[in-house]
Amino acid sequence: MPHPAISFDDTTRLLVLTGAGISAESGLATFRGAGGLWEGSRVEDVATPEAFEANPERVLRFYAARRLGAGAAHPNAAHLALAEAEARLGDRFLLATQNVDGLHARAGSRHTLEIHGSLWRSRCSRCHAGPVEDRSTEIAHPLRACATCGSLMRPDIVWFGEMLDPAHEWAVRSFVKAADMARARLVFLAIGTSGNVYPAAGYVRYAKDLGAETWLANADEAANAHWFDHIVTGPATGVVPALLSASGPEARGVR
Ligand code: OAD
Ligand code: ZN
Repeated sequence: MPHPAISFDDTTRLLVLTGAGISAESGLATFRGAGGLWEGSRVEDVATPEAFEANPERVLRFYAARRLGAGAAHPNAAHLALAEAEARLGDRFLLATQNVDGLHARAGSRHTLEIHGSLWRSRCSRCHAGPVEDRSTEIAHPLRACATCGSLMRPDIVWFGEMLDPAHEWAVRSFVKAADMARARLVFLAIGTSGNVYPAAGYVRYAKDLGAETWLANADEAANAHWFDHIVTGPATGVVPALLSASGPEARGVR
């Protein structure tokens, strides 16, 4: 059976949302895997402000280990296919990722919103210092003090119960609205995300309400599957390159 492909014309705009599933084949664990544990920890024990308050050392050790894992991983064929689609579509492409691993940037993606933050930056847990680059993988001594106020530095990651950057939400909505205003074809594609965590899980509905054609590429069921017009089930590296193969002029025989 031929692999499904999204069709593109000269005005098509593509909004992509990725989740942990796109990095699974790079060797990084997803969140809602076996037994609801994430690398042996309950998400609430490591990804909330309360967890950091109660046991900062544990939380920072956990993120130092995540940096070790993400630093050793490599972008896979799905990350690369998105970077190639962006190179062809230019401003008609926007990627919002829930991933903090930095693999999209390493694959060459530039027009990317890291809506849940980045493993590779830290900021002060108290004052407004930072974010600053942080590549520390010291699991034995993970505590760092803010150079301005002396409080603990924390990962620049959006934890449960925290707000997303309103500028990112605005950028996603503007991209969808601009397509609507220009009466351009809009395609929304979600890859490797379970559709459980909002607001990201609601982007599909927002895009669909403004006329987008909606696609989901995921290894199995997603909680928000009913909002998608097309569902392609399979591993990201197998399905994403084919889905995006027609996103350039070459694919239409134009050079
Ligand atoms: P999840 O772990 O909830 O979901 C990953 C999804 O990827 C699942 O639906 C899997 O079926 C799918 N999947 C697994 N392997 C795949 C593969 N090789 N190819 C394609 N799909 C695959 O991860 P997210 O949806 O990203 O937030 O989770 C959303 C947020 O919840 C995360 O950003 C994180 C977490 O708590 C924060 O840390 C703030
Ligand atoms: Zn500070």
